[in-house]
Amino acid sequence: MRLVQIVGARPQFIKLAPVSRALACHPEAAELIVHTGQHYDPQLSQVFFDSLAIPPPAVNLEVGSGTHAQQTAAMLERIEAYLLAERPDAVIVYGDTNSTLAGALAAAKLHIPVAHVEAGLRSFNRRMPEELNRVTTDHLADLLLAPTDAAMQNLAAEGLAARAQQVGDVMYDALLSSIAVARDRSRVLEQLQLGARPFGLVTVHRADSTTAAQLPAVLAVLERIAAAVVPLVFPVHPRTRAALRSCAPQWRAPQGVRLIEPLGPLDMLRLTEAAAVVITDSGGLQKEAFMLGAPCVTLRAETEWTETLTAGANCVVGHEVSAALAAVQRALAEALPTRVARARRAAALYGDGQAAERCAQQILALAARERGAGGAAAP
Ligand code: UD1
Repeated sequence: MRLVQIVGARPQFIKLAPVSRALACHPEAAELIVHTGQHYDPQLSQVFFDSLAIPPPAVNLEVGSGTHAQQTAAMLERIEAYLLAERPDAVIVYGDTNSTLAGALAAAKLHIPVAHVEAGLRSFNRRMPEELNRVTTDHLADLLLAPTDAAMQNLAAEGLAARAQQVGDVMYDALLSSIAVARDRSRVLEQLQLGARPFGLVTVHRADSTTAAQLPAVLAVLERIAAAVVPLVFPVHPRTRAALRSCAPQWRAPQGVRLIEPLGPLDMLRLTEAAAVVITDSGGLQKEAFMLGAPCVTLRAETEWTETLTAGANCVVGHEVSAALAAVQRALAEALPTRVARARRAAALYGDGQAAERCAQQILALAARERGAGGAAAP
């Protein structure tokens, strides 16, 4: 059974790692990893393959950056050519990036069955490119591998229940297999000389946070938190670095806001676990914070991971300074048992660490059904 896994951006490498490992335990499956080249900086790409022991991609399509249409169009063209040459039994896509959409669309039009890992997430904000990508991908895919109850409900509400399976969260599997290694190998706390003092961990990269209109508001939030509550460590995504140069060229990080290069996955886990609070507009980091017990403050108007809110693990504050300050202050006042209880709650919500194996079984069944039906890859 030949399975093509299509990835291209940082969060997808994390989700790919456990699924790839699970498929390797099924000798009837041969995987071909296609890297679209959406993320190309070594710190956003190669470090994930190295740190998470992901097999090297069979091909890198090297699409690089561009507008959404340029990037997606280049991927579609190159993925289609690859799929026509390889004729796999199924294609696997992850999450909500342009690589996800391009992989699903190219495969669906060639009548190759598509499995979507992390299906059913919704922010209900159609201004987010990720929301458009995930909604479209779910409607194109043949097998929807959903992480949570909320994701299953979203799929049912769109008439997609028959294709959906709740498998648990592959990011939880990824975290379980990496956290001990991170504690053992990562020296990031020592390198940054963080000692025992509390610090906040910041990431910002969403399109909506990095516009000329919104970036100053985000910077104002960070400055006030650093001045009034806790110093911040901020690994800066290349998109944000570029936005700082073009939208706020005069801005210099104030005392208490430490800008650093993007981190590899093990250093990131180590910092997240050690942080007094996580402040982010990322989707995956909200969840990783929850899994590691760290309180999260989300610099967005909404979240697709709604269970983080009901569990009291996350506070959505938009770009409001006073709401952000209050949430960070509450987080700093938390006692250790609260963090321990939070991590236990996350474990109960996101599965038992076997999500990737369930994905592998479902994907192999999908590919086998397709083989039984005679396959249909055709231009
Ligand atoms: C993408 C995903 C987002 C995911 C994020 C993880 C889409 C629409 N968005 O956002 O869902 O959470 O990845 O990081 O697919 N750049 C570099 N080097 C790189 C990659 C990007 O310099 O290796 C710069 C380029 O200037 C590029 C910009 O970052 O134009 C944005 O990159 P892009 O791939 O469009 O989206 P991300 O913001 O990374």
